[in-house]
Amino acid sequence: MPNEIHPEIYPPSPEVMAAAYIKSHDEMIHKASEDPEGFWADRAREFEWFKPWDKVLDDSNKPFFKWFVGGRTNIAYNCLDRHVKTWRRNKLALIWEGEKGEVRTFSYHALNREVCKFSNVLRSMGVKKGDRVTIYMGRVPELPIAMLACAKVGAVHSVVYGGFSVEALHGRIDDSQSNVVITCDGSWMNGKIVELKNIVDEALKRCATIEHVIVVKRTGQQVQMESGRDYWYDDLMGLPVARALAGGNRSETEVMDAEDPLFLLYTSGTTGKPKAILHTHGGYMVGVATTLQWAFDLKEEDRWWCTADPGWITGHSYIVYGPMLLGATSFMYEGAPTFPYPNRWWSMIEKYGINVFYTAPTAIRGLMRFGEAWPNRHDLSALRLLGTVGEPINPEAWRWYHRVIGKGKCPIIDTWWQTETGMFMITPLPATPLKPGSATKPFPGIIADIYDEAGKPVAPGEEGFLVLKNPWPAMMRTIYNDPDRYVQQYWSKYPGVYFTGDSARKDADGYIWVIGRVDDVIKVSGYRLGTAEVESALVSHPAVAEAAAIGLHHEIKGHAIHTYVMLKAGYEPSEALAEELKAHVGHEMGPIAKPEKITFVKQLPKTRSGKIMRRVLKARAQGLPEGDLTTLEE
Ligand code: PRX
Repeated sequence: MPNEIHPEIYPPSPEVMAAAYIKSHDEMIHKASEDPEGFWADRAREFEWFKPWDKVLDDSNKPFFKWFVGGRTNIAYNCLDRHVKTWRRNKLALIWEGEKGEVRTFSYHALNREVCKFSNVLRSMGVKKGDRVTIYMGRVPELPIAMLACAKVGAVHSVVYGGFSVEALHGRIDDSQSNVVITCDGSWMNGKIVELKNIVDEALKRCATIEHVIVVKRTGQQVQMESGRDYWYDDLMGLPVARALAGGNRSETEVMDAEDPLFLLYTSGTTGKPKAILHTHGGYMVGVATTLQWAFDLKEEDRWWCTADPGWITGHSYIVYGPMLLGATSFMYEGAPTFPYPNRWWSMIEKYGINVFYTAPTAIRGLMRFGEAWPNRHDLSALRLLGTVGEPINPEAWRWYHRVIGKGKCPIIDTWWQTETGMFMITPLPATPLKPGSATKPFPGIIADIYDEAGKPVAPGEEGFLVLKNPWPAMMRTIYNDPDRYVQQYWSKYPGVYFTGDSARKDADGYIWVIGRVDDVIKVSGYRLGTAEVESALVSHPAVAEAAAIGLHHEIKGHAIHTYVMLKAGYEPSEALAEELKAHVGHEMGPIAKPEKITFVKQLPKTRSGKIMRRVLKARAQGLPEGDLTTLEE
């Protein structure tokens, strides 16, 4: 049992506990469970509503739950307008450092001004409530500005991670039917330029809906600007329309229904087609702000750094919306953690006096291998709490993070959640005794369990499927354009219960230990990729007849993609072709999807109905028993 494998328990830090918002995790779980709707309503009252809700939860059309029904608000109003009416207008909202060391800072007043101007630009291009806008940028301040401006005018943003490539971008623009793309000429990563605008140009050759492209100048290299379609961000922001629509720097914030869509975020599932997870203004706002405040005990004077990219849910919830809702100061860094040296992150923690730091196990493992000397060169004493997300953290990395970065005094907040959940679901609070490798217990108001195949809770120590048994405000509302898939994927395995796609164990103390995905999703360096997407990228190469992708353990990345390829007649396996195929996947999907290894095979194991049996490939690669082969084709 995990509890016996890692018997160590780390009690709460007395310094953190002295000021912690929540003094007892168990008591708060109990309190929330007595009246979940009352619990969330209390949290929702922390925000400004143009009209209060009539009903906290409407579960009359399960699993299409609605929260704060009849309520009217706008998340951007609560991120900006609300703060600029108070002393917080002078507080730093965002501190940004570029990879080359440039620094830009925005007070709440300044950030609001930029968002107002940009929202007027969007309006002048005809963007209105409900329209979709695709954002494909590097990590620059204009990215959160663009997201907030969309929310302000009631448009639905669809941020596509700037590390994705042509095919991924094209598919996401097409599915969302966006009219506008906001991008950069390029972004800096590891001293090199990622040619974002060129990728947009290539993707747009195949997209019919885009009318306008707005380009932030970041890297300065020559890019094509198509007359009448492409505009420089700075030129638009300088136009009178940006400044003057509502007089001065103001711009009206759209009044939104609590259930109006806020954003789409594409994520990988079991099919080759990524699914657009839909989140809304009201419930998402209440969920992300509450979880950030309580799990990380974020205080008014703290400086918060979440190292994620805003192109992922972690960045949406905990770089942009969560911190801004709390009126916190958020730090954002553009580039690679090891540029130009492996102390880059630690030097910025020292330089900016970061108090609460949130990153991923893969990054910790990656930086660990450079040794302690790098962090030890820096004064990290401002740190109060540390966090991780994205995959299970191995106890060795946990201990290193705790000892070397946190100097033994910072709790490690290991947050389990998903693009779909919008907010932390299983996570310690500062009051929770910690066990390295366990995300501990559900957040108050959340009920998690572990089921066997038949839907019965498993005994302590046994592995099963992680499920969530009650709705929560920041939950996804549907898959955009595909409500059937929403029902089928998440609510059908166990009727009335949300199926997470993860396996887990619970120990004798009720601590949850997440093991990993049970579907065809692979976590590579914390990034979520579907095997089917990699396979379809491979099959789009002229030499490939069929392909299968699996995830195998990798020291730093957690998992890496291994692929098996059947060639078409007339093509011969070779080292050069393997390299060409890797590059092809990188070009189609983005560098993160590049397979670690390509093995050429004459046949793939398939069921009689023609489905590739990836588990057989996986077992073979690991030298494990191949399991039940009764469905394997002759
Ligand atoms: O398998 C779990 C893993 O990441 C999946 C969700 O991926 P994504 O939607 O990309 O969101 C990542 C950021 C929220 C989950 O199904 N996962 C996430 N956090 C943890 C985790 N596995 C173990 N421990 C975690 N803390």
